[in-house]
Amino acid sequence: MICKRQASSSKADRIILELGCGDGLLLRKLLEAERTGDTVQNNDTKSFYIGIECDSLKYNKATSVVEHFSNVKLLNGSFEVLIHEFSDCSIDKIISVLPDPEFIDIQNQYRWKKFYSVLNHKLVPNGSLRIVTELIDDLLQPVTAEAYDTWVQEIIEIFGELGFSLIQVLDGSPLEYESECLRRFKQDPQRIRLATFDFTKTSQNFNSAGL
Ligand SMILES: C[S@@+](CC[C@H](N)C(=O)[O-])C[C@H]1O[C@@H](n2cnc3c(N)ncnc32)[C@H](O)[C@@H]1O
Repeated sequence: MICKRQASSSKADRIILELGCGDGLLLRKLLEAERTGDTVQNNDTKSFYIGIECDSLKYNKATSVVEHFSNVKLLNGSFEVLIHEFSDCSIDKIISVLPDPEFIDIQNQYRWKKFYSVLNHKLVPNGSLRIVTELIDDLLQPVTAEAYDTWVQEIIEIFGELGFSLIQVLDGSPLEYESECLRRFKQDPQRIRLATFDFTKTSQNFNSAGL
C-alpha cells in the first residue's frame, strides 16, 4: 500500500492527497507554507503530500516543481485506479482543485458518485475533503446568485448522501491557493463562479446502495 509505506518512512503524522495536481504549483505552495510554519494546522504536525496526475507532461513538470522537498511523492496515473493502492482510513485530507467536469458536474453525478464514495472509505475518521470547483453558465452569461445558491445546495446534498458533512463553503477559492487553472479561471469571475467546499467524513456508516 502506497500510503502506509510512505508515511512511516517519512515519519509523517498526516497524509494529504491532491487529485489531479497538474503542474504541482499548489503542492509547492502547501509544502512551502508547512516548511515556514505558515499554515493553519498545528505546526508540530508533519504532513506527507501525495499528488496524482495522469497527464505525463504535467506530471514531469510537477516533479521538477517539488523536487527540493522530501515529504512529497508524485504518482503518474489515474486517481480512479491509484486510489485503490491506499488502505481504508489512511488519508487525512484530500484536495481536488478544479476537477474535470466528469468528476464534479452535476449532470455527470452518476459517473462520479462511486469514486467519491471510495474516497470516503480512504479517509481517516473525521478526515476532510476539500473541493474547489466552478459553475459556468451554459450560455456563458454571468452566473446569477440564484443559480449559484441552487448549485451549492445540490453539491452539498449529493456529498451528504455519500457520507460527507459540510464544514463550510467559501465563495471563491482559498486565498492561499495558487494553481495554473485557478489563475485562468479567476480572470472571468462573473461567468466563472468558484466555490470551495470543505467536507468532513461523517462517522456513521452510510448506505451506498444504488451507486
Ligand atoms: C482542470 S485541471 C486542474 C489541474 C490543477 N488542479 C490546477 O488547478 O491547475 C484537471 C487535472 O486533473 C487531471 N486529471 C483528470 N482526470 C484524471 C484522472 N483520472 N487521474 C489523474 N489526473 C486526472 C488532468 O490531467 C488535469 O491536470
